[in-house]
Amino acid sequence: ELIRDSKVVVITASRGRITTTRTDLLAVNVPLAKEIAQKIRKYNDGAKIVIVTNPLDVVTYVVLKETGFPRESVIGMGSSLDSNRFRYLLAKSLDVNMSKIEGMVMGEHGDSMVPIFSTAKCDEKPVLSMLEQNETARITEELRNYWKLLKTFKEASVFGAAKNAFDIVKAIVQDEKLQIPASVSLEGEYGLSDVCLGVPITVGKTGVAKINKIDLEWSELKSLNDSAEIIRNNIIKIKN
Ligand code: LAC
Repeated sequence: ELIRDSKVVVITASRGRITTTRTDLLAVNVPLAKEIAQKIRKYNDGAKIVIVTNPLDVVTYVVLKETGFPRESVIGMGSSLDSNRFRYLLAKSLDVNMSKIEGMVMGEHGDSMVPIFSTAKCDEKPVLSMLEQNETARITEELRNYWKLLKTFKEASVFGAAKNAFDIVKAIVQDEKLQIPASVSLEGEYGLSDVCLGVPITVGKTGVAKINKIDLEWSELKSLNDSAEIIRNNIIKIKN
């Protein structure tokens, strides 16, 4: 009933909690996601789908394939949450209010996520001109392990994930043209195909209204490719 009448379906179901890495949940959550995708295909083939379930990028890929929906209709919430954390870590390092920081994370919502330092800004100035040399490595490490920090004082990252998922749902329902990074299926963008991972998109009533192209440093593009490879390997694992 709920699925049939919804414009947007949000998938948060999980058969476990992350212990060492989000990919721990591959074997239990992929079959669950397939079951849910089959129900959405059966009862509401016009729905837009927002994925929260981990491992996020693989589950986004699986739901897209299982529903047979157009790629615009399936969005994985992960990189926008990672980007908020990246902005927080940059603000902490530079000892400024987070509102002064622009920063984006692309790639896997996982251990290989890629903070884009080259475009990150503090008060319109490139953060790379303000950080010490070794700080980018430290911030990247802290970012990739941020969920572990959260687990030291609560079960999981409830509010951050919920707020970012809500923002995507609201942007679809109100056709807001929201600019965020999120996991979508790529067909050649950033030189990548047949994989879902976090890239900058515009979210509106059609779901993914646009996949946005930004210029990346060579090292960031390499890290994005490495991240895509990790997700592809996990996709192969669930196919066998
Ligand atoms: C996190 C979970 C939602 O990053 O993947 O907190």
